[in-house]
Amino acid sequence: MAEVRPIRWRKGRLELLDQRKLPAREVVVELGGARDTARAIRSMVVRGAPAIGVTAAFGLVLASRRFRSGRLAEDFEKAAAILEAARPTAVNLHWAIVRLRETMQAQPDGVSVRALTRALETEAKRIMADDIDVNRRLGAFGAKVVGRGGDVITHCNAGALATAGYGTAVGVIRSAWESGRRFRVFAGETRPFLQGARLTAWELKKLRIPVTLMTDGMTGHLLKSGRVGSVVVGTDRTAANGDVANKIGTYQIAVLADRHRVPFYVAAPTSSIDLDCANGDGIPIEERDPTEVTHIGGRRIAAEGVDVFNPAFDVTPAELVTGIITEEGLVRGDYRKGLARAVKKAEARRRRAG
Ligand code: MRU
Repeated sequence: MAEVRPIRWRKGRLELLDQRKLPAREVVVELGGARDTARAIRSMVVRGAPAIGVTAAFGLVLASRRFRSGRLAEDFEKAAAILEAARPTAVNLHWAIVRLRETMQAQPDGVSVRALTRALETEAKRIMADDIDVNRRLGAFGAKVVGRGGDVITHCNAGALATAGYGTAVGVIRSAWESGRRFRVFAGETRPFLQGARLTAWELKKLRIPVTLMTDGMTGHLLKSGRVGSVVVGTDRTAANGDVANKIGTYQIAVLADRHRVPFYVAAPTSSIDLDCANGDGIPIEERDPTEVTHIGGRRIAAEGVDVFNPAFDVTPAELVTGIITEEGLVRGDYRKGLARAVKKAEARRRRAG
């Protein structure tokens, strides 16, 4: 089966699978520079925390071709600021930019624009390749705990489309399925942007993993039925204490899972762990355009002029999280210690790999 690849870097060109059009049409768009890339991130051509990090890295590579020699650092910061402002919640965007900034700072004095672009390109390609590798490792750890004791609930899309490939929460589901465990996945539709209905259901069908779509309000009823053995979701930013920001609607699933004693897992590559953020109160929550709520598929469904509440994410407190699955293993209990250790191990692994 052909792997879903939302981001392609082909001969110095950045191509994105336009996720707004899925599953009806598979349309590829090409981007030209930082502004173009930021627009694509903001308008959800590409979405999902790791995927926007990888995209931003390549956006910087594109922008770097127009940097002025002698003003490289200044031009880098201008492009980085445009990209970082695209979406505030997912820390991966910031994380990828920091990695590229470190690459720039490691260049010799007087480096040419061309040589800098080459170095940034190498790093962006590494970020993309690492992401797939990280997701596979994370998936293997998650497969030990997810898919046991019944069906699985997931929310939003933390699949291949939300990453460079393979997925985080969907990667765990995939890994559990490949290890021989049998279950059905209940995918919440994820109003208002419908990532569950449009993207997760599409990916799981492609993978031939049994999937049932439900609206978000059906979660409590399903959990009460006793057929669900675990919940697994992704994250846009996990704070140092284990508070988890993820797609709006995640918090209520965690509360309901706790009520029904169903384990609630978060698939969190270390690129989405923010140790500088002490707890969930420090995580900026993006508010999106009201038309995402008042319209479906371009058609108005609500009264003209109605006030709208449209936060794109919510924060699930650490106490409701059974375990956080990273590429360095499953973290439970003392999240402050466990997450810091996982981040340190991941950084050491990257340094060893050069
Ligand atoms: O608004 P989106 O579609 O970018 O939100 C995506 C999510 O909330 C995902 O669950 C999260 O980014 C993890 S993706 C591996």
